[in-house]
Amino acid sequence: MIKIAPSILSCDLSRLADEVKLLEKGGADGLHLDIMDGVFVPNLTIGPLVIKALRSKTKLPFDSHLMIVDPEQHIQDYLEAGSDIITVHAEATKNLRQAIDKIKKAGVKAGVSVKPGTAPEIIESVLKKVDLILVMTVEPGFGGQNFMPALLPKIKTVRQMIDRQKNKIELGVDGGISAKNVAQVVAAGASFIVAGSYVFKSGDVTAAIQCLRAKADEAITQIFK
Ligand code: DX5
Ligand code: ZN
Repeated sequence: MIKIAPSILSCDLSRLADEVKLLEKGGADGLHLDIMDGVFVPNLTIGPLVIKALRSKTKLPFDSHLMIVDPEQHIQDYLEAGSDIITVHAEATKNLRQAIDKIKKAGVKAGVSVKPGTAPEIIESVLKKVDLILVMTVEPGFGGQNFMPALLPKIKTVRQMIDRQKNKIELGVDGGISAKNVAQVVAAGASFIVAGSYVFKSGDVTAAIQCLRAKADEAITQIFK
């Protein structure tokens, strides 16, 4: 079953709690929270305080995407803020295993993300531990960018890596996902869809989520035809 986690980066941040409630009513499976430190990526967004403030406003699972350097030093902050998944970038730390271990030890799901130019082999060392591999389909840092179709073969490669593992791992895609390309990424092996601008710029959050889900489900039935 495909999971859809809209990213709040493209929502009306002046009405964040209302927008999150819209997502919950609209059938989202989780909330993708883009954390940026202005160092790992050239943009600065929200941190643990905002996550903590949102925590009591929704039951949606929080998928915290840490686009920050040395994430292993900040895991505790994102745990205490109420994250249900914490995803770190393989490129942002020399201690990827330590970061993943810290997240798992706290009983929270662990994700690892790779930028478009990073070879997926970099995550071999944590494959047996992670719950999510997030393949960036844009350069991280901003919402509203165009999907990079050149990443489709990489999604397929990651799907093969996952299918060789015994532990259940979601294959996430993040960046420029819309009704136009969701079937392609699902056919390539994605099971976890992050979408920001497509959901929030559509004018109807519920319809956008339903459209993504319908096209993703259609792609799955095609695979099994
Ligand atoms: C980019 C973020 C993405 C982004 C997705 O660095 O990690 O989650 O907000 O937004 P869209 O779907 O608009 O590309
Ligand atoms: Zn993200």
